[in-house]
Amino acid sequence: MSEAFKIFGGSILKGEIETRGAKNSVLKAMAASILFEGPIEIENVPLIEDVFRMSELLSGLGVEIENLGARKLMLDASNLQGWILNPEIAKLFRASIVVVGPLLARLGRVEFPYPGGCLIGKRPIDMFLDGWRKMAAKVIEEGDHFKIEAKELKGADFTFRVPSVTGTETLMMSAVLAYGRTILRNAAMEPEIVSLAEFLNSSGAKIEGAGTPRIVIEGRCGKLLRAKSPFYVIPDRIEAGSFLILGSILGNPLTVTHCDPEHLDAVVSALSDAGVGLEVGTDFIKVKRPQSLKSVQIKTREYPGFPTDLQAPFAILLTQAHGQSMIFETIFENRFGYVDDLKRMGADIFLADPHRILINGPTKLRGREIESPDLRAGLAFVFAGLISNGETIVRNAYQVDRGYEKIEERLKNIGAKIERVKL
Ligand code: EPU
Repeated sequence: MSEAFKIFGGSILKGEIETRGAKNSVLKAMAASILFEGPIEIENVPLIEDVFRMSELLSGLGVEIENLGARKLMLDASNLQGWILNPEIAKLFRASIVVVGPLLARLGRVEFPYPGGCLIGKRPIDMFLDGWRKMAAKVIEEGDHFKIEAKELKGADFTFRVPSVTGTETLMMSAVLAYGRTILRNAAMEPEIVSLAEFLNSSGAKIEGAGTPRIVIEGRCGKLLRAKSPFYVIPDRIEAGSFLILGSILGNPLTVTHCDPEHLDAVVSALSDAGVGLEVGTDFIKVKRPQSLKSVQIKTREYPGFPTDLQAPFAILLTQAHGQSMIFETIFENRFGYVDDLKRMGADIFLADPHRILINGPTKLRGREIESPDLRAGLAFVFAGLISNGETIVRNAYQVDRGYEKIEERLKNIGAKIERVKL
């Protein structure tokens, strides 16, 4: 029996919804615990399935993890002994690859399977492997299984073919314990990378340039870090952006609290192009659905551009906009897997090529039974259900639970008709 969301569309949403800590920040901080000689504390931890998977993966390597309550975790890698990532767990989520960097740097060897994750196109790891090779590691590929060895990881000058978020984070963490200076060029610039670098620096690392395309790391020649203060997980800009999109369709008004508006510029500007009125505060944004939404053209880009993780929720908004909109997905090659289901719900969407869709609106959506292909499209389907006539069932709630904490309870609090059911 699996869990699903049962949704009755048509309710107007109002009130406040709080943003949780960022999935794509906390997972990296947890992996970073391997770089430390004593415990680290992480605050503002979202209680999501990917965090539970990361805990299981790290526990299997000997990292002691304690839940301190109140969204705080303590991780202590003092007794780290394992260097083989449990394949059953690692295959469930892409962020498992982030553990490889610190592990290799600390133990000089690591074994792992090809990392799993969402069905959003090929997710190569060639740049990670090239980076470690440049740092003098030996990479042995045995089908879908990798062994990497390096007695001493050497600092290196490495250029990313395209900016990679986890690639930047992983090589940055490897470089912290390496021998010599590492320069990462064409690096990704996401706020989660900056936050990780700040934490590592506050614990003794020397990383300069995080948040720019050129990051320079002075290696500590194997000397582990020591935490001086807790890591505070930054607000999830993807979750906050998703709630803003929802509020722009159904909010009367909806205030998204505990967010960082500075990280949401691209979304705010896309929403105002669509005719949405927004009030931007220091840690909140208030939105109200306009009388009518306007069509817009969206191109996903690396940060600070429009995030690929928000294109599926934004597509739901565009089904309600007047005129023809376009979404151009430039980061992943297969992130329109959700389109056929939306068409079955009544949306008018044309797949122009694997990277572009045209959406004609507004269209009335009808409730249906659908299944989440990945966590971001899963949330988009929940949104589609909330604006549809009748009942929608979104199967595979696990995908949504990977990244969003108790979403049905939080949406219910702002007036949505949604419940979790077992099917
Ligand atoms: N790429 C390569 N080779 C590599 C690594 C990446 O060709 O070795 C390519 C990818 O195929 C893609 C591009 O580089 O075309 C950029 O991908 P990136 O590596 O930045 O993605 P990622 O690090 O795997 C993270 C987030 C994703 C988010 C992307 C883009 C985590 C755990 N995941 O993925 O989040 O979509 O950055 O912002 O941080 C999600 O949370 O649902 C999610 C998919």
